[in-house]
Amino acid sequence: MTASLEFRDLPKIELHLHLEGAAPPAFIRGLAREKSVDIGGIFDENGNYTYRDFDHFLKVYDAACTTLQGPEDFHRLTLAVLEESASHGVIYTESFLSPDFCGGGDLAAWRDYLAAIEAAAAEAETRFGITMRGIITAIRHLGPDQSRNTARVAAETAGDFITGFGLAGAELMGRPGDYTYAFDAAREAGLELTAHAGEWGGPDMVADTIRDLRVSRIGHGINAIHDLALVDVLAETGTVLEVCPGSNVFLNAVKDWPSHPIARLRDRGVKVTVSTDDPPYFLTTMSDEYANLARHFAFGPDDFAELNRTALDAAFCDAKTKERLAARLEKA
Ligand code: ADE
Ligand code: ZN
Repeated sequence: MTASLEFRDLPKIELHLHLEGAAPPAFIRGLAREKSVDIGGIFDENGNYTYRDFDHFLKVYDAACTTLQGPEDFHRLTLAVLEESASHGVIYTESFLSPDFCGGGDLAAWRDYLAAIEAAAAEAETRFGITMRGIITAIRHLGPDQSRNTARVAAETAGDFITGFGLAGAELMGRPGDYTYAFDAAREAGLELTAHAGEWGGPDMVADTIRDLRVSRIGHGINAIHDLALVDVLAETGTVLEVCPGSNVFLNAVKDWPSHPIARLRDRGVKVTVSTDDPPYFLTTMSDEYANLARHFAFGPDDFAELNRTALDAAFCDAKTKERLAARLEKA
């Protein structure tokens, strides 16, 4: 039995998964063929996504997304992604959804895409036993103006399914404060907030994100480790980190698994959770993440139970859904 198989059936809560970033390469190749889209060069000889570094990753990601051209494509994508996640024991997933990839940020178009994604999520819940919620996500490198539109679209479609607002993309472009307007609008619409920070930027980026965007969660946040006073603030305020160790190792945000700060952050009292980010891009799964945590940091059943409880507490879903999921975690 490979190490990750051991963890496959353990129920898991995942808070940080980009829907398009979870598209299996074969799925994207199939769409490219159907639609005669030329995306040559984004796959290696084994059929996996290939790129040189983070900036190139974002370009390959954009190229793959050009094959996703209508609501029906997102319906199929959502079903495929949730089936794969469920096969690794994920019972609840929060997925970043980008209206910029779904009709170019147009609200009417987005409503059609959202209806398709939500229908697929409902089908997946019945068929695979996985619950999904959506976090509408602005893309940093499209700039602050576009993020305001994304926030408006998010505010208009906030509800039981769209429960959060986030920020992803090229972290080092601009400053968190450039996105204050968008996050204020999303908060006023009742959305919960998270933003990628401290994946590439330093502790200052994490601190500014908390101050200027008033998020309850940070995507990655790992570079906070370089400022222990900030780590203590994260611990005291209960700010939750959506840590994606496999992504960090694959993209060289950290040198290797043993030097990843997840265990040090946790030992100092920070609420950490574990997710895959864009699993096929990093050749990972939730089972692999658990296997690596066990191997490199001796995480055991109690540690995984705590990770999942922390994630469920920090999840952007209603209390009833949390209760139902908590019962499933407890049974395991
Ligand atoms: N979009 C998809 N994956 C991302 C990551 N790891 N960081 C920032 N933006 C992203
Ligand atoms: Zn991410």
